[in-house]
Amino acid sequence: MGRSMSRPMSRPIDLRSDTLTRPTAAMREAMAGAEVGDDVYGDDPSVNALEERSAELLGKKAALFVPSGTMANQIALLLHCGRGDEVLVGEGAHCMFYESGAGPAWAGVSFGVVGTGGLFDAEQLRAALKPENIHFPQSRLVAVENTHNRAGGRVFPQSDVEAIAALARERGLALHLDGARIWNAAVATGRSPAQLAAPFDSVSACFSKGLGAPVGSVLAGGREGIAKARRLRKMLGGGMRQAGILAAAALYALDHHRERLREDHDNARLLAERLSEVAGVGCEPDRVETNIVNFTLEPGARMDAEELVARVRAKGVLINATGVRALRAVTHLDVDGDDIERGARVLGEVLGE
Ligand SMILES: Cc1ncc(COP(=O)(O)O)c(C=O)c1O
Repeated sequence: MGRSMSRPMSRPIDLRSDTLTRPTAAMREAMAGAEVGDDVYGDDPSVNALEERSAELLGKKAALFVPSGTMANQIALLLHCGRGDEVLVGEGAHCMFYESGAGPAWAGVSFGVVGTGGLFDAEQLRAALKPENIHFPQSRLVAVENTHNRAGGRVFPQSDVEAIAALARERGLALHLDGARIWNAAVATGRSPAQLAAPFDSVSACFSKGLGAPVGSVLAGGREGIAKARRLRKMLGGGMRQAGILAAAALYALDHHRERLREDHDNARLLAERLSEVAGVGCEPDRVETNIVNFTLEPGARMDAEELVARVRAKGVLINATGVRALRAVTHLDVDGDDIERGARVLGEVLGE
């Protein structure tokens, strides 16, 4: 349930990201009551329960609780690749574009981009694979992002995932799923997270986005891989102690906040519809599959994206610019349908001024 009814008028409608949610009272209660121990010693019962539950939900043998989606992805790169190897990703992949250059810096990998727009198919992957030739880096890993953040929360079609996986196996490549928002993909497709993750050797998933937990992600995979990942997490400084307080929030979110993602998707669609009615805005509601709305300002618009962001912020609506004319709004459990109507009205008024 959205909680904006209780939002003070001074609190903005924050559509910058689904990471901005604050723990609900019930989630805080679950955190306060969590049993804890030292997780680096393997002694935290709440973390152990979360790891078991995550492995089961994602259909893998084991899972590791980590502080962030970035750390989960970076551990996956370190797990699957050696220095100099190439990771094949869709355009704008989070692990390439939004992780501060960590892949090249820590894992020593380069990225090869497959297709355009984030999603790709097996034929595009075939074309992108490097031939066996000492001039080229060795393609080692294919990383798929589902849902795809920069592509506007698009769902990766499972038929493409399966064909990509078959080709990757044939060529001896490993497969990682950046499933930061796999929970959204599951709700949007009616497939279980385990079905979505089945073709992959490893999968990362976040609790701190649409699920509304304050901190935490998981990396799931085979037993041996996750045992190595545990050491890599320690090397990266991600070993946490009484992390059960955080695991309790994630467990609460898995139990109570997955089905409600449907509301976020409906709200995103509503926002896209309202935006598509505003003169000077390019927005395609049919492309909004989950909780992210990408939109553009048409060339004749009176302002660029940064100016629009500043002007709507002054009226209590927060969104992000993703390019000179490109913007993004994200729905989550702290905004409801009334907030969306109000946010869209403010955007329309500012653009019409
Ligand atoms: C697709 C995707 N992967 C990974 C991450 C990284 O998560 P974190 O911010 O927890 O490092 C994000 C964050 O937005 C994301 O959208």
